[in-house]
Amino acid sequence: MKYNFDEIIPRKDTNSLKYDYAKKRGLPQDLIPLWVADMDFKSPQPVIDALIEKSKHGIFGYSDSMEDYNQVLKNWFSSQYGWLIDPKWLVKTPGVVFAINMAIHAYTEEKDYTLIQEPVYYPFRDSIEKNNRKLVVNELIYTTEGTYVIDFDDFERKIRQYHVKLFILSNPHNPVGRVFTQDELIQLGNICLKHNVIVISDEIHQDFIYPGYQHTVFANINDAFAQNSITCTSPSKTFNLAGLQLSNVFIPNVDLRKKFIKALTRSGYSQPNVMGLVSCQSAYEHGQEWLTQLNHYLYENLTFTRDFLKNHLPNVHLIEPEGTYLIWIDFSSLGLSDEDIKQKMLYEAKVWLDDGTMFGQGGCGFQRINIACPRPILEQALRQIAKTFSD
Ligand SMILES: Cc1ncc(COP(=O)(O)O)c(C=O)c1O
Repeated sequence: MKYNFDEIIPRKDTNSLKYDYAKKRGLPQDLIPLWVADMDFKSPQPVIDALIEKSKHGIFGYSDSMEDYNQVLKNWFSSQYGWLIDPKWLVKTPGVVFAINMAIHAYTEEKDYTLIQEPVYYPFRDSIEKNNRKLVVNELIYTTEGTYVIDFDDFERKIRQYHVKLFILSNPHNPVGRVFTQDELIQLGNICLKHNVIVISDEIHQDFIYPGYQHTVFANINDAFAQNSITCTSPSKTFNLAGLQLSNVFIPNVDLRKKFIKALTRSGYSQPNVMGLVSCQSAYEHGQEWLTQLNHYLYENLTFTRDFLKNHLPNVHLIEPEGTYLIWIDFSSLGLSDEDIKQKMLYEAKVWLDDGTMFGQGGCGFQRINIACPRPILEQALRQIAKTFSD
């Protein structure tokens, strides 16, 4: 089956956060929204069919996963990443951000520091600060070649200095698009082991990897890393199921798992959303062909974006992503303030992006654009941006 990712599916008036909430947030309603990380594509047909089938049954009582679900997950992670999961490790949560919040409760106290690598997905910072925990940032280095690398010396220095308890890793990294190499992950993992820092590996973007790169599951590098980490995964980004609220968290270490489940129980969460379960199982069982085609389309969108910016806004620099459909763009050479960039983007270009400053240290002068949309929408947004910022 050939999927048509060029198809424009209207999303207005569907309670979509991306399309229907501009007014609520005090923004103009005619913006092209390329901010929040969901896609403007239909999920794979087998997933839609499975959800319809479940709906026809008409009973949506408390539900949980069974052995067939575990088997599908086992097959998925072993075929995608060579990672042999044990279903005992699995804890389901209503999302990855929820899981990160649970981990913070489970593994830290108020006096404890958690380390993140900014610029990074802003709920990481929130999950630490809003739970009254302490935050320390190991800023990624933006090189003169326009790439991002880890400052390992600073990473270890901060861990030592602040007696860090927890490290939240974003891999592939949102927003800078790095897919960290095995060597980089080994260096990070060894420093964490040396200083007893537990690793929360958020791998929600793991299925979006551009040609020439390969995703490494942190916990799959060696047993010591597996025992010192929790791995957050979800079909939600991959198959556009974020509204169905399900993620699969893998915790091989018995003690870490017990503490996590205790925090989860305290939160009041028990069984997962039944539609989340149905869609996850179906996606991992039947979604591979769709995903292959999607990744091809996203790669073409990336090429299109890069070429478009080169031709129309040569002073704006696209950070070459290795993974994710979120593209980090450097507007700093235009000499505008962050507020000016924001205002011009919203009120002149009429495009709604995520401001770089939201991602913390290192975010000034940047914007993040979500390219997981039909190309005509992307092209229109880029035209509006180019017109505004080339004047
Ligand atoms: C790195 C990262 N983690 C987590 C999430 C959100 O996950 P969830 O919706 O499962 O909480 C996102 C969404 O953009 C993300 O980029």
